[in-house]
Parts: sequence; C-alpha cells; structure tokens
Amino acid sequence: MALLEVRDLNVWFRLPKGGRVHAVQDLSLSLDPGQSMGLVGESGCGKTTALTAIMALVPPNAEVSGRVIFDGDDLLVPGERTARKHRWTGLSLVFQGAMNAFNPVVRVEDQIAEPMVAHRLRDQRQAIARARELLEMVGINPKAGRRYPHEFSGGMRQRAMMAMALACDPKLLIADEPTTALDNMVQAQILLLLKRLSEELGLGLLMVTHDLPVVSQLCDSAAVMYAGRIIERGPIADLFHAPAHPYTRMLFDATPDLYDDRPVISIPGTPPRLDREPTACPFAPRCDSAVDRCFAQLPLPEEIGPARVAACLRAEDMLALARGGSRHG
Ligand SMILES: Nc1ncnc2c1ncn2[C@@H]1O[C@H](COP(=O)(O)OP(=O)(O)OP(=O)(O)O)[C@@H](O)[C@H]1O
Ligand code: SF4
Ligand SMILES: [Mg+2]
Repeated sequence: MALLEVRDLNVWFRLPKGGRVHAVQDLSLSLDPGQSMGLVGESGCGKTTALTAIMALVPPNAEVSGRVIFDGDDLLVPGERTARKHRWTGLSLVFQGAMNAFNPVVRVEDQIAEPMVAHRLRDQRQAIARARELLEMVGINPKAGRRYPHEFSGGMRQRAMMAMALACDPKLLIADEPTTALDNMVQAQILLLLKRLSEELGLGLLMVTHDLPVVSQLCDSAAVMYAGRIIERGPIADLFHAPAHPYTRMLFDATPDLYDDRPVISIPGTPPRLDREPTACPFAPRCDSAVDRCFAQLPLPEEIGPARVAACLRAEDMLALARGGSRHG
C-alpha cells in the first residue's frame, strides 16, 4: 500500500475583491514507504499550496477538494481530527524559512522536546534526552541544545528544525525549499543530511525545490508542476533522459551542468494567471513544440509508461524524439 496517495487535489483561494485563484488543479501523486519525490516548478506554480493542503494546513481563505490518503486515513475529511492525529507522528513538515520559526525565548532542546510531550510519547525528561540524541543525529553537539535559537547559525537552526521534524518518528518528511536561505556549502551539507536520514530511518521524503540537480541527486522520482498542475511525473532518471513534456525538457536545459558544455537556455515568457480556468494547454504560449490543437484543447494527465504520467498532447512524439536523439548520452 502507498504511504501517501493524493487524488484529484484542488485548492482555490478566495480573493478579497472577489474571484478565486485556482492554485492547485487536479493534482494526483503516490509515494511508497521509504521513497523520495521532488516537486519542482517555477515560482507561483502551487508547490507550497499543494504541500500545505496535503498537511491540511491551508489558510482560511482556501477551499480544498480531493483526497489525501496517508497510511490508510483520509486527511481531508472535515473536522481536522484525522490530520492532527498524523501530523508530527506520521508526517511532518519542514517549511519554507522554517529556521526562523523557532521561538526566540525558549531553549532549542525544549522546543524539539515539545511535540513529543504534546503527543504524550515521552515525559519531559525523556523528551529532552531524545531531543539531545536527535541533535547529535543531525550533526549538532547535544550540549548546544541548552542554547537559544539566536545563538545558532542559519545552518544549525535548519538542522535543529530537522531534528524537531523527526522528534515523533514520522514515516514521511515533507520539506518545502529546506535550503533556500542558506549559502551553497551549507545547502549541500543539509541536503546530504536529508538523504542520509531518509535512508537510515527509512523515511519517505516529499521535497519541494526549484533545483532540478538536487532532485536528480536526492530523489527516486519527480513531479513537475506548471500553473497549478502536475504536467509530468515519473522516475527521475526517465524524466532526465527522455522528458515527455516540453516544459520538463526546458527546465533541465535551463539548468547549468558542470559536466556538460551544452548551452543553458532560459524559458521565454511567463506562466499564465490562475484566476481563469484553462481551456487549452497552459504552456502553449511558451512551448517550442506547440501545434494548433494545443491552443484549443486542455491536455489531461495520461500514463505513458511504468509509473510515468504526462499531460501533453504530443507526449509520444516528445518521447520518440528524446529517445532517438542523444540527450544526455
Ligand atoms: N493565501 C493566499 N491567498 C491568495 N492567493 C494565494 C495564497 N497563497 C498562495 N496564493 C497564490 O497561489 C499560487 C500558488 O502559490 P504557491 O505559494 O503555492 O507557489 P509556489 O510554487 O510555492 O511558489 P514559490 O516557488 O515562489 O514558493 C500563486 O498564484 C499565489 O499567488
Ligand atoms: S500540449 Fe502542445 S503546447 Fe502543451 S506542452 Fe504539449 S506540445 Fe507543448
Ligand atoms: Mg513555495
């Protein structure tokens, strides 16, 4: 059974002046225990909204439909109880800018201990002992847990945030741009730590990032989002060697590669507004492979291979082209 199964997830935000933004549109994905998936796409395509909806943590102006099945329970059933039952203990979240989310006047180890006590998994003394173990696990001297958050560097705070996310032994870690605010060296260390922890603890990992090379190194599979929709998902190696959607190909080609001297392209144009429902391919105005019907028909996600889905009217042509060419060897 999948650890996480998301079916037809939709999120709309009501706007103060009337109208709605359709931020997540018919999103489906599935993640097996211990597997890792990267969620990628340009700014504003709905990545954070998708994750907060999966955690049942959307803001009050949001309307949500669909199903989020975690460990057999639907987290979106009204009443919040099911979602609360699984948060921290089943799935936990390291969100964008999380390292600034510590309470400045509470010692770090007390904050890491708090969810364990709140979920009655350990008493205060045991929880502090476990917090110190967790700090050690993420590469921080356990004695540093006595310090306050401002006495930690940015990298240390992000590591401590991961310790807190692991406090209740979750099965799935959801991370939203876990390294954005950190310098390159610390980013690499944190990502390696994430990979090691997910392997050692058998954790599932669903991670949002702008950075495709990071997904290539860290994740088993990827889901590419564009304008609120997943336009392609599948094993990362398949997407890299033979992308079925032109946007996936262009995202890879827009990413510099140290080991390849191919020219880096930029993707022309901007994503569409999300306050109108699409009636054609949302990527058509920017797509180098568009044909007339792309401007008249909305492509729906279709299976194009084992564990592979793409929403492009020309997916088969794109696959044939990629496989026939010498793309990345
Ligand atoms: N609370 C909100 N109210 C209204 N619109 C919102 C709200 N939160 C997000 N949006 C809109 O929903 C869309 C998706 O936003 P989201 O933050 O999920 O994108 P993202 O892919 O995470 O972007 P980034 O990479 O910049 O973090 C955007 O058009 C955004 O303006
Ligand atoms: S459906 Fe057409 S416009 Fe859209 S991505 Fe595919 S080829 Fe490009
Ligand atoms: Mg975001």
